[in-house]
Amino acid sequence: MKHFEQSQLLNKLPKQFFASLVKKVGEVVAQGHDVINLGQGNPDQPTPDHIVKSLQDAAGNPSHHKYSPFQGHSFFKEAISTFYKREYDVDINPDTEVAILFGGKAGLVEIPQCLLNEGDTVLVPDPGYPDYWSGVALAKAKMEYMPLKEVYHFLPNYEAINPEILADAKLMFLNYPNNPTGAVANSDFFRKTVELANQHDICVVHDFAYGAIGFDGKKPLSFLQTPGAKDVGIEIYTLSKTFNMAGWRVGFAVGNESVIKAINLLQDHMYVSIFGAIQEAAATALLDPQSCVDDLVELYEERRNILVQGLHEIGWEVTSPMGSFFAWLKVPDGFTSEQFADKLLYEAHVVVAPGIGFGSYGEGYVRVGLLTSTDRLKEAVRRIRELKIF
Ligand SMILES: Cc1ncc(COP(=O)(O)O)c(C=O)c1O
Repeated sequence: MKHFEQSQLLNKLPKQFFASLVKKVGEVVAQGHDVINLGQGNPDQPTPDHIVKSLQDAAGNPSHHKYSPFQGHSFFKEAISTFYKREYDVDINPDTEVAILFGGKAGLVEIPQCLLNEGDTVLVPDPGYPDYWSGVALAKAKMEYMPLKEVYHFLPNYEAINPEILADAKLMFLNYPNNPTGAVANSDFFRKTVELANQHDICVVHDFAYGAIGFDGKKPLSFLQTPGAKDVGIEIYTLSKTFNMAGWRVGFAVGNESVIKAINLLQDHMYVSIFGAIQEAAATALLDPQSCVDDLVELYEERRNILVQGLHEIGWEVTSPMGSFFAWLKVPDGFTSEQFADKLLYEAHVVVAPGIGFGSYGEGYVRVGLLTSTDRLKEAVRRIRELKIF
């Protein structure tokens, strides 16, 4: 059989750090151990019944068996606009300020290709969600990292960025509630972001994947609630986390008209649009009463409290996340994040994600997902206690 070399572009893609973790975990599972996997970001709860029912009903509609309209159905874009008005009091024009996405990941990877030319500079958070790097590589652009440090509540310190880098930067990725740190943003930070973006002509992409998940009664802010935000950027929303629809692949971008237009143009050449029945069910999710979302946040908050309390009881001084479904835990002295994750995997059969996989400023931490039952979280804490590290 002939072997076809892959393109130079594909060779430029960043290495998938977590592939090696998945392999190690697979080996431990294959040995027959009862592994508690807190290393992934896959929601464990099912999609609420009324959304599934909406898909079931819509799937029989022959009009959805044809191609969906390019750029998506207007009923879905109108539902998105209603959702943003109701949840955030933000006005979104459904015709010009919405792009429908095959999940948030697709949009995040497309955006650099929509706006950048070879060699352009992008500001990315470190630690951060690795898909930002993939999009930047596909656009042959250059990354500059913005460290997220605990002293600054895991927000980038714009004053510390080299002015030459700011002058070159064309795009910036932000993500609050944050994966992996569990931090949330405040309005003052978003105001500074708009100011910086205006000053340096930077397009801001706020990844709002965990927008629904804020703890202690605090609803996370949408970037678009900031005065002037739409002038300088967009927000990417996904139904994956809010409605446990990760497998459905549906999300959207809202905000700056020129950016939305560029995303739609690229997508016109790559796809038609999402299956119409999925768009109908997604509209149901956005428009129907949101008690399923309240229940989900309550569930994650209960898990967070049990995990954090349990870890405190065994002497691990950890900070409680304020949003997302991740806890970002400081690794004890004497270990790198990978060594510590390996110790937990091999000796306690508990999987956590080593912080270094999210960037160099992730070193010294591990990420724990709140994506299993409280009993399993308690069992994970019990196993960690038995290692007698703390
Ligand atoms: C920070 C962040 N952004 C975006 C996504 C993408 O989600 P999806 O592609 O399912 O919409 C994820 C998923 O894990 C995420 O953690």
